[in-house]
Amino acid sequence: STTPVKVAVTGAAGQIGYSLLFRIASGSLFGPDTPVELRLLEITPALKALEGVVMELDDCAFPTLAGVEIGDDPEKVFDGVNHALLVGARPRGPGMERGDLLEANGGIFAPQGAALNKVAADDVHVTITGNPANTNALIAMNNAPDIPDEQFSALTRLDHNRAISQLSSKLDVPVTDITKMTIWGNHSATQYPDLFHAEVGGKNAAETVGDQDWLENTFIPTVAKRGAAIIEARGASSAASAASATVDHARDWALGSPEGNWVSMSVCSDGSYGVPEGLISSFPVTVSDGKWEIVQGLEIDDFSRGRIDATVAELAEERDAVTKLGLIKG
Ligand code: NAI
Repeated sequence: STTPVKVAVTGAAGQIGYSLLFRIASGSLFGPDTPVELRLLEITPALKALEGVVMELDDCAFPTLAGVEIGDDPEKVFDGVNHALLVGARPRGPGMERGDLLEANGGIFAPQGAALNKVAADDVHVTITGNPANTNALIAMNNAPDIPDEQFSALTRLDHNRAISQLSSKLDVPVTDITKMTIWGNHSATQYPDLFHAEVGGKNAAETVGDQDWLENTFIPTVAKRGAAIIEARGASSAASAASATVDHARDWALGSPEGNWVSMSVCSDGSYGVPEGLISSFPVTVSDGKWEIVQGLEIDDFSRGRIDATVAELAEERDAVTKLGLIKG
């Protein structure tokens, strides 16, 4: 039998956790032949609720679930982990300014980055889902000096999947016909879902749609504001879809992106497409052997340039704010 892959999930007793853990344990992430060991981190007051979730995991009798450990100490929970899915974060409370939010999350992601640095497996892949995801990833990465920057990423796969779904319903084509979707920039309302490089049945998506007004005034805002629309309808933020996207992201990072296609991941910029080096920004990437590469050579027209620059400017502002707070080195 193979050694289990150790997967850490933080915020495991939360909404996303309640969907994510069952997907991982059932084999959606690494397939039916790879056993997984779950390492679940929560804050102390949520450990009792987490014990209840673990009872339910037990009750599923998943053949691929090799073990579960829970705790509130990141250095214990992250010991030897190969994948770390950092979901738990501090939501924006009433009257909280953006600076307060960044600071509160810095208090979570700086120590978690340091703990991963100390105890995770050398090959650890770290995915940040908890918001503000890109900047939380930047903080974790900067507090883990011994883990290569390439081993950190933030989730923009939900936005990517939302963009595919919107285009599929606009053109009445199956989602499988749509390839090369890209989300650029920040996982926020400034993100840029790009149809100029996407394809539908192998043909350019923007040309196939042939409606710049829809693209600018319906498609982009619908994708970018989908999170708010779900809160409005459901009375709670997206959880199952966020868990599903987290599985897609981690699976493609581990097992590779499909041939002839790419995925959107927020990764540490090497300066590609004019995105300042060191920012965690969403790009089109291909993945093989557990390593991502930014797709090179795409032509960026003026419209796309403006949108990319705007979302990247927001990332740079967030970086400057957390630098001022001393959460990362300037
Ligand atoms: P939730 O509030 O239901 O659960 C969060 C859990 O994290 C709570 O159980 C809390 O106790 C735990 N937690 C807080 N601090 C922690 C720490 N220091 N260590 C370990 N656990 C900790 O929230 P939900 O709905 O599960 O969402 C989680 C995060 O994911 C939020 O920040 C949300 O904004 C974000 N999100 C990101 C998306 C993306 O596409 N990147 C999409 C949807 C949500």
